[in-house]
Amino acid sequence: MKVKVASLSAHLPQKIVTNDDLAKTLDTSHEWIYTRTGIESRHLSSDSELSSDLAIEAAKKAIARVNLNPKDVDGIIVSTTTADRRFPSCACRVQGEIGAEKAFALDINAACCGFIYGLSVSDSMIKAMGLKNVLLIGAETLSKFVDWTDRSTCVLFGDGAGAFLLQPSQDDSSGIIATKLYSDGRKEKYEYILAHNGPQNDNRGYTTMSGKAVFKCAIDCMAISINEILDENGMTIDDIDWIVPHQANRRILEALCRMRNFPIEKVIITTQNHANTSSSSIPLAICDAMAKGTIKEGDTLLFTALGAGLVWGSAIVRL
Ligand code: UT7
Repeated sequence: MKVKVASLSAHLPQKIVTNDDLAKTLDTSHEWIYTRTGIESRHLSSDSELSSDLAIEAAKKAIARVNLNPKDVDGIIVSTTTADRRFPSCACRVQGEIGAEKAFALDINAACCGFIYGLSVSDSMIKAMGLKNVLLIGAETLSKFVDWTDRSTCVLFGDGAGAFLLQPSQDDSSGIIATKLYSDGRKEKYEYILAHNGPQNDNRGYTTMSGKAVFKCAIDCMAISINEILDENGMTIDDIDWIVPHQANRRILEALCRMRNFPIEKVIITTQNHANTSSSSIPLAICDAMAKGTIKEGDTLLFTALGAGLVWGSAIVRL
């Protein structure tokens, strides 16, 4: 038995902010941001738009696409580093708002690798518990957790949510083929948000990052995890139609391709329009590529990501 992606959806806040917009209030420029990261613009949530609000919209779209009654959803897993509250979870709010009366609700925090962690957890729970419908949602509003006077971090992030509806399938030709997860807590200082007073003393906490250290780890760790997951499953990069990586920085993806001799043409890149949306970036990138007709049903996708922790991992999924 495999776990298949029965439906998928994306939800982005309406407001789009370009690099030039940021340069009006910050000592930065489109040229610096674009050449260092590949980012041109990002979607930013309004003050009243929380991660759970984005998650709810993505969840509603995913179930509406297949006409699923919310009462038939067995579980809701939200991967987020930017939950609205310490508790209750974002997943609980989604459960209540969409009317998924029978569903369990669980948040997962694995930073920018959260969607891959969530995929692994969902895959295991569906198989172990005989679940029929699980909503996995990546939902983030990192714009609310950056110091907007710190140009080295605030220009990098965007907001958004993406959802997969996962179901068991007896047809082994599509679904989650493998997931592989890693962590190294000794590198926690490279990127973190302290959950107490930030520079604006508003009890929220803001993103701190050693950009260069994370940059190097991202390339090395994602390269190793891709090689290991392909080897362990008797596959090569030629068996993959599209690499869908976490969208932190275009230069990271170019360096990864150079290092492992992967064709950059096989990599889905949405960094330019989304910036770094943490655990939402992979489902957002897939939905974008499917809307453009790039990724198609039946394609074999390789996901890879690294985030604060450090945590990283890869997954292979056939749509
Ligand atoms: O999501 C998962 C985890 N995160 C990542 O994967 C992010 C990984 N890291 C990166 O993407 C890159 O390291 C950054 C984009 C964050 C930074 O790029 P960089 O090439 O490593 O730049 P840098 O940190 O070396 O900064 C170089 C200069 C500094 O000036 P000085 O000290 O050389 O005079 C910074 O003050 O650029 C300056 N700078 C800026 N200048 C204009 C930093 N931010 C900005 C800015 N605009 N927004």
